[in-house]
Amino acid sequence: MLAHVLYRPIAPEDIPLVSALHERVFGPGRFARTAYRVREEMGPGHEISRFCRLAASGDHLIAALRMSEVTIGGQPGAALLGPLAVTPEYMNQGYGRRLVSEALDAARAGGMKIVILVGDESYYGRFGFKRVPPGQITLPGPVDRGRLLAVELSEGTLANFSGLVSGR
Ligand SMILES: CC(C)(COP(=O)(O)OP(=O)(O)OC[C@H]1O[C@@H](n2cnc3c(N)ncnc32)[C@H](O)[C@@H]1OP(=O)(O)O)[C@@H](O)C(=O)NCCC(=O)NCCS
Repeated sequence: MLAHVLYRPIAPEDIPLVSALHERVFGPGRFARTAYRVREEMGPGHEISRFCRLAASGDHLIAALRMSEVTIGGQPGAALLGPLAVTPEYMNQGYGRRLVSEALDAARAGGMKIVILVGDESYYGRFGFKRVPPGQITLPGPVDRGRLLAVELSEGTLANFSGLVSGR
């Protein structure tokens, strides 16, 4: 790991660097991702939520995690994690793990009950994410089977969330 790495919330002035990292890691295909559509529905005020986090060393962006508050079937108390992107030179050095842990702590402290994402269970399982039972929660677009995951921030709460995920 680099020395002097700062972990902090994302600020509006960070957005160009974060967008450049997304371009590098995900390419133009990122705009077609279903999770992107949910965030697109949100007004400009919701572009950066209080749960977004980055890791930086000086002006150098190492990793960034976005997390947006959403409703599920009209119910608040849920957040959608993603994208999470780590600069390729710094992958597999613990930056992703640290940002996910910080964002989940912030979401819990901020009163969220559940965090969902579209991603690899083999990575996110270590944070307690599990597959959502098929059909319980839906997104406004296609999602690969087995990649819609959720972590409960208060025990047993997944059962209270069902329906369409929407930006708010
Ligand atoms: C996937 C990603 C976020 C992981 O963050 P990271 O900082 O590189 O990884 P961490 O240091 O937190 O974790 C490393 C561990 O995760 C594993 N891992 C990395 N990417 C993985 C993946 N896609 N699926 C499963 N496991 C993965 C590593 O093998 C390693 O395992 P170990 O702890 O058993 O040795 C990062 O590599 C990345 O940005 N990848 C490209 C974009 C992407 O796929 N984003 C996720 C979807 S939004």
